[in-house]
Amino acid sequence: MFDRGFLYGDSVYEVMRTYGGKPFAWAAHWERLESSARRLGMSLGWTTADATTALKATLEESGNAESYVRVVVTRGAGPIGLDPALATTPNRVIIVKELSSPPAELYERGCKLRIVSVQRSGAGVDPRAKSGNYLSSIQALREALAAGAYEAVMKNAEGALCEGSSSNLFIVRRGEVATPPLDAGILEGITRRTVMTICKRRGILARERTLQADDLYEADEAFITSSIREVMPVASCDDHTIASGRPGPLTRAITDVYRRIATETASF
Ligand code: PDD
Repeated sequence: MFDRGFLYGDSVYEVMRTYGGKPFAWAAHWERLESSARRLGMSLGWTTADATTALKATLEESGNAESYVRVVVTRGAGPIGLDPALATTPNRVIIVKELSSPPAELYERGCKLRIVSVQRSGAGVDPRAKSGNYLSSIQALREALAAGAYEAVMKNAEGALCEGSSSNLFIVRRGEVATPPLDAGILEGITRRTVMTICKRRGILARERTLQADDLYEADEAFITSSIREVMPVASCDDHTIASGRPGPLTRAITDVYRRIATETASF
């Protein structure tokens, strides 16, 4: 009840999924958890080795074929008050549940996005820290769902596109892949990073670029990325169909390579 994660969202977390029962990019997720904690001046009180052992044991015990994994560390419990020094012992939780992937239809037909009025990183929380404070994402998603869309796209104070409520955004234009830069105020997604590496290795031009709404509306292809969704094509945004409204060839190619890499490299 007095846990600061519960009271204030004073926590950091990671979400990943397994392939063949093993997590994909565990090392990168762990590194980001550490980096999020540093940004919030929080101690994880957990060694990499201990966390890995705990994750392995939790996955084994679950008996799931494939799992959704959520690793949460809160600043701990203490007397009510904002001063972080009121809590001294972090609470650590690993949640594992049967993986439920998004419906296949979303990959075959593409999803619908909505550019929302909710601004990314409004509350002075560093967007690069994956903290438990997700209120702006929740408000953004509410707005998108109310408009009949699947995922929101948030803008920053300058009006440039940032990212989804729980995904990163990519467009393809004239054979070049583009995604908003980190200084747009976004989370550095691990799927995003993997997609950039795939592009580099395959000779696909890919760069970080400031994107406006029109860049998305007029794109040849668009897709969103996250650990659970992997690479998901976008069919439309607001009242604009993206090109033919069908998943494009580069999106499909990147999706296939991503799945292969995740499957081949998943490990503890
Ligand atoms: N969220 N941006 C935001 C705001 C996110 O919450 C997420 C992921 C991403 C994509 O990051 P990654 O590729 O590392 O999963 C981008 C997770 C999946 C979640 O909160 O469920």
